Order: sequence, then structure tokens, then C-alpha cells
Amino acid sequence: MGFKQFSKLHLMNQSSTIILGIESSCDDTSAAVICDGKVLANIIANQEVHKKYGGVVPELASRAHQQNIVPVIDAALKEANIKKGQLTAVAYTNGPGLLGSLLVGSSFAKSFAMGLNIPSIAINHMQGHILAHFIDEKDEAPKLKPSFPFLCLTVSGGHTQIVKVTNFFEMEVIGETIDDAAGEAFDKVAKMLQLPYPGGPLVDKLAQEGNPDKFNFPHPNVGDLSFSFSGLKTSVLYFLQKEIANNSHFIEENLNDICAGVQKTIVAILMEKIENAIKITGIKEVAIAGGVSANSGLRSALLQLQQKNIRVFIPKFSYCTDNAAMIAITGYYHLKTNQPLEATMSPNARLKL
Ligand code: KG4
Ligand code: ZN
Repeated sequence: MGFKQFSKLHLMNQSSTIILGIESSCDDTSAAVICDGKVLANIIANQEVHKKYGGVVPELASRAHQQNIVPVIDAALKEANIKKGQLTAVAYTNGPGLLGSLLVGSSFAKSFAMGLNIPSIAINHMQGHILAHFIDEKDEAPKLKPSFPFLCLTVSGGHTQIVKVTNFFEMEVIGETIDDAAGEAFDKVAKMLQLPYPGGPLVDKLAQEGNPDKFNFPHPNVGDLSFSFSGLKTSVLYFLQKEIANNSHFIEENLNDICAGVQKTIVAILMEKIENAIKITGIKEVAIAGGVSANSGLRSALLQLQQKNIRVFIPKFSYCTDNAAMIAITGYYHLKTNQPLEATMSPNARLKL
């Protein structure tokens, strides 16, 4: 037996809680195995099929999930060196997300659990993003985790929220976007710049070589804890139309600076609201979660808050975008805190926190 396998088995004892997590809310098929809060495997299959359409095509996403789900789960169990019979429960994403995609993961999870005679646990994807901060790594000492209550800025392709997290399953949205989500703003601007989908990571990469002060875009004027990104999108569109009318090569000649200016604006909007939330609630622990929490500008702006005596929690890159480890850890705390199990739950595309 290799050392790697030994170290995994060493983590387990008879009373270990081993959760298989399944995530299929959008265009990533993912399966993870978590043993007593530590990740043994976290496999993610991305769906390249959407690239040429410039966005996720729901029908293609659910078909790709159907193709990927069995090999991805098989790979996760093999990497974790876990047999089906050792599983304590199966946790799966129940919403929010694309209904067809959710149906593939949830149907598989429920039947798989039923066949094994173990519980299946319906997980809210947005809770999963937040509880990703409680994942530990198998070969590392337990990491420093947020203590309750904390604030979480949850920024993804479909959501932009400030959540007050009172305990594992008591979460209150105290601020959110009135129009587009932050990830959507990144992706829509990227599309205007003729960058492939999803544009957020590319804008981030290009922005790192650009001058953030060359082009300035307006900030919205909305309530204390509300966000708005549709004005930014429109102003970038008009700005580009005007500049391209004078110089048809404007985008290619200024790509890095445009990306840097847009990223600076999005990050400033997010930071202004999180600082308002700290003032209003008096809570001095702040976490970020969701795909946009991978953004380098947001990560470094958040770290600056430490100078104001705020404790800051930034997820590992692999737990920012959609992954099943966050679903498995939420399932783990679900069992640990004795939350009720609802075996017959159907997926809900618009599930709220
Ligand atoms: O959480 P997530 O993987 O899926 C949803 O639940 O929506 O988030 C995906 C979003 C996309 O809009 C993507 O462009 C954005 O997160 N994103 C980023 C970065 N990495 C992912 N946005 C800005 N900078 C990044 N580095
Ligand atoms: Zn997500």
C-alpha cells in the first residue's frame, strides 16, 4: 500500500462520517468525498461545449451532466479510496441553478443513496459556497475558520449578496443586487471585448497587465447595502461604441487598460458595500465566496481590511468556483448539527438562502 493510500485510511475510524457531495447546478459536474470535514477528493468536469455559444446553453448542460456524472463520481470515490458501502450519506445541490442540470445531479444522488440505504441531503448551492470556508485539507492541520456571526460577500455568476451568517444554517441576506450579478457584469463586459465565455477569469488576467486609472467608469448610487451593475455595463457599451467610431482598433490597443478599469470599478462597488455592512452590523469578520471571489483585485482589496482590524477569510481558488467539496461539507455539518432530512425534496431553480 502506497503512503498516499495509507494516509487516507489513517484519517478514518469506524465512527467516521464520510459524505459524497454532488454538484450539478450549472455547467460544472463535480463530485467530492469528505471524511470528518477533510477533503479526500474533489473532481470537477468542465463543459467545453458552451464556449462557442458565448454562454451556458441549459439543454446542452444537462446532457453533458448526464454523460459526466457517473465517471466523475467514480473518479472521486477512487481518488478518495472509498468504497460505496463506506459512505454515510450523499449530499447534492438542490438549487438554485438550471433546473435540467439540477435534475441530473439530484436524481442520481437520491437513487444512489436509496440503493445504498443511506440518507440523501438536499443542499442549497449558496449555503455551500459560504460553508466552503469550513473545508479542511486531508494532509494539513485544520485551518482558521470564521467564527459566528460573520459577514459573507457571496459573488457568483447569478448572485451578489451580503449574508449575515449567524450559524451553519442560519443565514440572512442583508444586501443584494437589484439587477445583474457581479460575475454577470464581468462576463457581459468580456463579451463586449470579444473575449470567450466565461470572461471573468480572462478580464482578471488581462487587468493585471493594465493601468486601472486610464479609463474611469461611474459608480451606481443605490441603497446602503444594495448593488447595481447594469449601469456599468451600459456605460462600458457606450464608451466602447464612441471610441471604436474614432479608432476601429481601440479594443485591441487598450484591452489591458479597459479590463483593469472595469475590474477596479466592480471591486470598488463590492468593497464600498461590504464596508457599509461592517459599519451597520458592527461585525468584524468578513468572508468572500462564489466564483468572483477568485478575482485577484477583490482578494487584495479585501486583505486591505485587515489594517482596519477586520478578520478576513478568502477561499482557496479551488473552492471559489462551483465544486462538490462545498456541497459535501455542507452535508457534513447538516448531519453534525442534526438538521432535518427531507428525502422527497424536488430541485428548485430559484431556491433562496
Ligand atoms: O460560483 P460560480 O462558479 O458559478 C455560479 O454559481 O454562478 O461563478 C461563476 C462566475 C462567472 O461569472 C465567472 O466569470 C466568475 O464567476 N469568475 C470570475 C473569476 N473567476 C470566476 N470573475 C472575476 N474574476 C475571476 N478571477
Ligand atoms: Zn456557484
